[in-house]
Amino acid sequence: MAEINQIERLCFYVNGKRVTDYVDPETMLLSYLREKLRMTGTKYGCGGGGCGACTVMLSRYEPNNKTIVHYSVNACLLPVCQLQGAAVTTVEGIGNTKTRIHPVQERIAKAHGSQCGFCTPGMVMSMYTLLRNKPQPTMEDITEALGGNLCRCTGYRPIVDGCKTFCQESNCCQANGNGSCCMNGNSQPKNCEDDLPQLFDKADMLPLDPSQELIFPPELIVMAETETQKSQTFRGERITWVSPVSLEELVQLKSCHPQAPLVMGNTNIGPDIKFKGVLHPVIISPTRVKELFEVTQTPQGVWVGAGSTLSAVRALLARLVGELPLEQTEVYRALLQQLGNLGGQQIRNVASLGGNIVSAYPNSDLNPVLAAGNCKLEVLSKEGKEEIPLNKDFFVGFGKTALKPNAIVLSVFIPVSRKGEFVRALRQAPRKENALATVTTGMRVVFPEGSRLVQDLSLYYGGVGPCTVSATKTCSAVIGRPWNEETLEEAYAVLLDELTLPPSTPGGKVEFRMSLTLSLLFKFYLLILQALREMGVTTEVLSQEMSSGIQPLPHQLQPSLQEFQAVAGGQEGQDLVGRPIMHRSAISQATGEAVYCDDMPKRDGELFLVLVTSTRAHAKIIDLDVSQALQFPGVVDVITCRDIPGKKVRPFCGYEEELLAEKEVQYMGITSICTLRNKRCQTACAPQVSCVGQIVCAVVADTKPHAKRSAATVKIVYEDLPDPLFTVEEAMEKLSFFKPQRVIERGHVTEAFAAADQVHEGEIQIGGQEHFYMETQSMLVVPTGEERELDVYISCQHPSYTQEAIAETLCIPSNRVSCHVKRIGGAFGGKLTKTTVLACITSLAAWKLGRPVRCILERGEDMLITGARHPVLGTYKVGFMKDGRIEAADLHYYVNSGNTVDESVLIIEKILLHMDNAYKIPNLRGRAVACRTNLPSNTAFRGFGVPQSMLVVECMINDVAAKLGRTAEEIREMNMYKGVSMTHYKFEFDPENLWRCWDECKVKSDYDARRKSITGFNKQNRWKKRGLSLIPIKYGIAFAESFLNQAAALVHIYKDGSVLVSHGGTEMGQGIHTKMQQVASRELHIPISLIHITETNTSTVPNTCPSAASYGTDANGMAVKDACQILYQRLEPLIKKNPEGTWKSWVTSAFFEKISLSATGFYKGHDGYMDWEKQEGEPYSYYTYGVCCCEAEVDCLTGDYRTVRTDIVVDIGRSVNPSVDIGQIEGAFIQGLGLYTMEELKFSPSGVLYTRGPSQYKIPAVCDIPLKFNIYLLAGSDNSHAIYSSKGIGEPILFLGSSVFFAIKDAVASARAEVGMKGPFTLNSPATPERACLACATPFTQRIPTSQPGSFKPWALDI
Ligand SMILES: Cc1cc2nc3c(=O)[nH]c(=O)nc-3n(C[C@H](O)[C@H](O)[C@H](O)COP(=O)(O)OP(=O)(O)OC[C@H]3O[C@@H](n4cnc5c(N)ncnc54)[C@H](O)[C@@H]3O)c2cc1C
Ligand code: FES
Ligand code: FES
Repeated sequence: MAEINQIERLCFYVNGKRVTDYVDPETMLLSYLREKLRMTGTKYGCGGGGCGACTVMLSRYEPNNKTIVHYSVNACLLPVCQLQGAAVTTVEGIGNTKTRIHPVQERIAKAHGSQCGFCTPGMVMSMYTLLRNKPQPTMEDITEALGGNLCRCTGYRPIVDGCKTFCQESNCCQANGNGSCCMNGNSQPKNCEDDLPQLFDKADMLPLDPSQELIFPPELIVMAETETQKSQTFRGERITWVSPVSLEELVQLKSCHPQAPLVMGNTNIGPDIKFKGVLHPVIISPTRVKELFEVTQTPQGVWVGAGSTLSAVRALLARLVGELPLEQTEVYRALLQQLGNLGGQQIRNVASLGGNIVSAYPNSDLNPVLAAGNCKLEVLSKEGKEEIPLNKDFFVGFGKTALKPNAIVLSVFIPVSRKGEFVRALRQAPRKENALATVTTGMRVVFPEGSRLVQDLSLYYGGVGPCTVSATKTCSAVIGRPWNEETLEEAYAVLLDELTLPPSTPGGKVEFRMSLTLSLLFKFYLLILQALREMGVTTEVLSQEMSSGIQPLPHQLQPSLQEFQAVAGGQEGQDLVGRPIMHRSAISQATGEAVYCDDMPKRDGELFLVLVTSTRAHAKIIDLDVSQALQFPGVVDVITCRDIPGKKVRPFCGYEEELLAEKEVQYMGITSICTLRNKRCQTACAPQVSCVGQIVCAVVADTKPHAKRSAATVKIVYEDLPDPLFTVEEAMEKLSFFKPQRVIERGHVTEAFAAADQVHEGEIQIGGQEHFYMETQSMLVVPTGEERELDVYISCQHPSYTQEAIAETLCIPSNRVSCHVKRIGGAFGGKLTKTTVLACITSLAAWKLGRPVRCILERGEDMLITGARHPVLGTYKVGFMKDGRIEAADLHYYVNSGNTVDESVLIIEKILLHMDNAYKIPNLRGRAVACRTNLPSNTAFRGFGVPQSMLVVECMINDVAAKLGRTAEEIREMNMYKGVSMTHYKFEFDPENLWRCWDECKVKSDYDARRKSITGFNKQNRWKKRGLSLIPIKYGIAFAESFLNQAAALVHIYKDGSVLVSHGGTEMGQGIHTKMQQVASRELHIPISLIHITETNTSTVPNTCPSAASYGTDANGMAVKDACQILYQRLEPLIKKNPEGTWKSWVTSAFFEKISLSATGFYKGHDGYMDWEKQEGEPYSYYTYGVCCCEAEVDCLTGDYRTVRTDIVVDIGRSVNPSVDIGQIEGAFIQGLGLYTMEELKFSPSGVLYTRGPSQYKIPAVCDIPLKFNIYLLAGSDNSHAIYSSKGIGEPILFLGSSVFFAIKDAVASARAEVGMKGPFTLNSPATPERACLACATPFTQRIPTSQPGSFKPWALDI
C-alpha cells in the first residue's frame, strides 16, 4: 500500500453538479473554481486563510451518525485532492439574479453591506453556512461567523445589520438593549424606527425558507454508505499526494516517506508552500483515516483524535463542560477560552488539533494550555505505539517537536481536573480576534484541599521564544508558598530573569512581550484569588479596584442609530435624490455575478505576467541573468527596460520614476532628484535599485504558476551601495529631500512665542498604512491585432492617465489605447499612480508579444511593491496663555516618501493646508518636507496627508490641555474658529456648521454626563481605564490643482426609452454610479430602472480626472446633470406638444423628428489655486465638517482596548444618497480607527517589508467596530458649491478615527495619573495595545529593563 503508483480520479460536487477530474495536488479549491470551472464568484484576497474572501461551504455526509455536516472553509487553503465525496456550495450555488436570489444575498445588499463588493461573496457564504446550521442565530453567532471575513469598505455595521435580520430578537428596534423594543418600558420612542426614516425596510425582504436550499447530492450519500473507501494517489508536476484510508497504510507511508508532511487542515503546510516556497515532493493526507477522529471518554479524561478539527474539539469540550462537575473541567474551559479566539471560523473548521500541536508555532494558543494541563499524546510509528507527555521537553525549537519524523500523533489525552486544581488561559493579540497572539499562556496551579499553599504550578508561555516555553524556575520559586502578593512579587523577579528576551528578538515588541509575561501572571494570580474565595479557602474580598484586572472588556454590540433627513414632502416618488437607495450593483456583488477584472474570461493565447523585484534596498545591478528563467516550461519572454520603445520613465511632481530598472538606463533624473546622491554618484549611469520591491523585470508565461516559478530563477547580481536611508531621521541627517519643500506662515510666530505665558514642544510619529483594498492590483491587456490598438481592462482610479502613460511607453498615440474600468474592488488612493506603472509594464508585454497578458498581483507582492500611506514625523512648538488660548504654533512635518516622489510633494502641500484643522491660531507656521528614503515609494491614500497633518495639531492641543490640567475638549472649544474667519492661506469661510456639529455631537453623545461617569469609573478601577474624546474636522473639498476640477459625461437615449450614462468617475465602492443614476433620473424625470450606467471607458468619455479627493460626485454629477438637461430641453417641445404622452412616445417622436438623443455634458469645476510664494489661495471649493465623540476602555495590564461608543455628527449638506454617504462615513471611520490604533507596517533593518498579508498586518475586523456606533447627518445644511447642495464625503471622516486614539490616550493619562505621572506624554500612532500598555506605566512595564537605542540591532525599523 505504501507504494505510490496508481493515479486517481476525484469525485465531488459543486453547487449540485458532479465533478470528476484528475487534479494536480498543488491546486487549491479557489483556483479550481475560478480557473477550471470558471466560477468567479469566490474571490482571491490573500491566499493564506486570513481574509475570508474565498469562503465557500463544504458539506459532507457522515455515515456513522447518518448526518450531513456543513461548514465554512477558505477555498484558498483547501486542496482539491481532499474533496473526495464532498459537496461544495459557492455563492453562485445559493442564488442569482436570473432565477432567485437568496435571502442572505438580498439582506446584506439591501442593508447596504456591499460597497466595492469584493468581500461580499465571502461574507454571504459565512452567513449562509451559519444559517444552514442555525436558521435563527444569535448576535454572537453572527459576529463569530463573520470573524474570519475582512471588509475594507463598509466598517461592518451594515453587514451585521443585514445579517441581524435573521435573529429572532431583532424584530424590533432593540433601543432598550437585550433585544427589547423601545415601546417596552418607559423609554422614549423617539429613536424607534417608526419615527425616523430608515436606511432599509425589513418588510421588503425575502423570508428564509430552509426547504429551498440545495439538497445534499444523494449520490454522495450512497457512495459513503456503500462504497469501500480506498486509498488515492494524485500526481502533479511537482508533487505526489497520497490519501490513505487505513491506519496501517498511513504508518507504512509515513515510514517510507518520513519527510512527507501529514496534511490535515493545510493551514500550516499550505501557507508554507505558498509563501515560503517550501516544496514537499510527497504529501500524505490522512483525512479519511477514521482512527484519527475517534473520541474516547474515560474517568480520567478524554482521548481526542488528533485529526479532529478545532471546531469539533470545541464542540466536544463544550459538551463535556456541560456534563461534568465544574471542578473537573478546568483544562477544558481553558482550552475553550483559547479556541474561541483562535483564527477565524473557517480556519477552526479545518485546522486539526494534531496539526496545531505538531506545527509547534511559537505562539500556538493550544500548546501552552495542553502542556500546563498535563496532556499527553498517543503516538504511533512503525516501531509501535507510545504515550508522550506534552510538556516542556516536547517543544524543541521553532516548528520542531521531539516527535520522530516517522511518527504520527494518533490522539491527545486531555485530563479532567481535580478539586483544588485551577487552569487558566490568557492571551494578548494585535487584534481581538483572528490574530496570532503576541503572548499566550496556559497556567495551572494546585492547592491541597482548603489551603492556599501552592502544591504544584505550571506556567507555559507562547510568544516569548522560538517555541512554547515553560517558566520552570518561577514555578519552583512559588511551589510550597502561599498564594499571596509577597510570593508573586518574588515570582515576577524570577520570571523576568527566566524569560528574558534579547532586544533584537525576532518579532520585536520586546518590552511589551516581557511585560505581558508579568501582567498575565498577575491576572492569573487575581483569577485564582477569586476562585479561592469562591471556594471559601480565603476570605479576602477582591476590591473593585483590583478585580478590574480580570473583568473582561465590554463586548456586546448594541443597536446603533443612523439619523438622516427625509426628503421634502413634495418630492416626486420617482425622484430618488436624497433617498437611501441601495448601491446599484449590490445584488450582483452579493450573488457573485458582478465582474471584476480577474473575473474576465481567459482570452485565446492569454499569458500571465509576474514581476521580478529587487531584494536590495540600495544597490547597483551588476548582472541580470534571465537565461534560466527563459528555459522554464511555458515561459514566453522576460520583459526588461530595453523592450520599451517609448518613454522609460513616468514623470511625477517634476521627477522621473523609471518603469523597469535595467543596465543601460541613464539615470538622467538623478541630478534633479537629490544633490547629495549626485555627489556620490558622479558617474552614475549604472543601473541602481533604490528599495526592496523595486520592479526590475517581468516574466511572461502561459500560466501563473509557470511565470511564478520562472521568476524565482531570475538571477540578479547586486553590488550594495553604502548608507541606505530608511527613517526620516536618517533622511534629515543626510538632507535627502524631494523638492520643493513647503513653508507657510501667518502672523508673527517668533514674537508670539515670546509673548506667550507658556511654550511647550512635542512630537509624534505617525505610522504608514497599507491600502489593503480587497481586490489586489489587477489588469488584462488585449492587443486587438489591428493598427496597434490595445484594450486595457483594469482596476484603476484614473483610466485616462493610465491610457496616456501606456501610449507614451509604447510610443503610440493615445487614440490606440482604450482603458475600461467596470468596477474596482476597493482602491482608497492606491490605484492611481502605482497601477499606471504596472499597466505600462503589462501593456508593454502584450504589445511586444502580440498576445493578451494578465497581471494580478498576489497580496504579498501588492503590499511589497505598491507603497502605502506616508509615515510622518510631526514636531510642534506651541505658545499659549494661562486660560488656554493658543497664540502661536510652529509645526514641522517630515514625510517618509520612499524611493520615488510619486505624489509626495502634493501631499506635503495638503498637509500644510490642513494643519490648522478647526482652530484659529493667530500666529501659525508650518514646514513640510518629503524625505527620500530607500523604502518602497509611498502614494496617495484616502485623506492624502490630512490624517497625518491633523493628528499633529490635535496632539499639540492635548498637550496644552495636559499642561494646564484642563480637558482637551475645553482647549479645542476655546480655540476653534468663530464667526466668518480666514484660514492661514487667507481663505474666507464661515464655521457655523462646524459649531453646529460640535454642539449637536456634545448633546447627542451626552458628553458632559459621560465625562463625569468616566471620572467615577476610573477612580474605582485600577486596571481598567476609560477615556473620552471629542474631535472636530474641517476638510477642504476639490483638487488644489484647478485643472483636475472638471468632468464630462455622455448620455444616450435609445428608441425604447432606455438611457445609457457614461461618465468619468470610476466605481470603487463609493457608490458614484448609483448617485449618477439618481441624478439622471431626476433630470430626465424617469425612473432609475430605465437608466444604465456603463463602464468607465476612455473611448467614451475622454480626458477624465481621477476619482479622488472626494470630488467624484461633485464633478461627474454636474456633468451628468448637464448632459441630461441638454437632452431634456430637446425633448421639452415634444412633451409640451403631447403632455399626455409617455417617455417612450416622446423619445420615439424625437427620433422621427431627427432630434439628437445623445449629448455630452461638461462641468468646469472650482477654479482653485494656491500661490505658495504669496502663501495664499483658494485651493478648496468648500469644507465638509464633522465632529466625533468617542469613548474607549483600556485594559492597562495588556493595552487591549474596546471602542465603547462612537457618535459622529457630519455636515454633508443635503445628501444625494444617505445610505451611500453613511456607508462612506462609517467605512472611513473604521479605516481611520485602523490607521490610528492597529495597523502597523514593519520593515527589517535592511528595508524588507515583513508585513505582507493579513496574518502579519491587521486591519479592523468585525470585532473592532464600536459597540454603539451612531451617525447623524446634520439637518438643514446647504452648499451652493456642489450638486443638489450636497458635499463630498469620501475622505474627511477617516480622520475622525483618531477620536479612538485620543480616547485611548485619555484613558492612558488616567492610568499614568494614578502613579503620579501627570502632564503631556508622547503616544505614537498607531496606539496599539503595545504602545498603550507601555504608556500606562504599570508596575509591570516599569520593571522591564530598556535597552539603549544604538546598542543593538532592532528586529524592525522605526520608520
Ligand atoms: C489565518 C490563520 C490564523 C491562525 N490563527 C491561529 C491562532 O490564533 N492561534 C493558533 O494557535 N493557531 C493559529 N493558526 C494556526 C493553526 O491553528 C494551525 O495551522 C493548525 O492548527 C494546523 O493544523 P492543520 O490541520 O491545518 O495542519 P497542517 O497544515 O495540515 O499540518 C501541519 C503540520 O502538522 C503535522 N501533522 C498534522 N497532523 C499530524 C498528526 N496527526 N501527527 C503528526 N503530525 C501531524 C503535519 O505533518 C504538518 O507538519 C492560524 C492559522 C491560519 C492560517
Ligand atoms: S483568499 Fe482565502 S482567506 Fe484570503
Ligand atoms: S465592500 Fe467589503 S471590501 Fe469592499
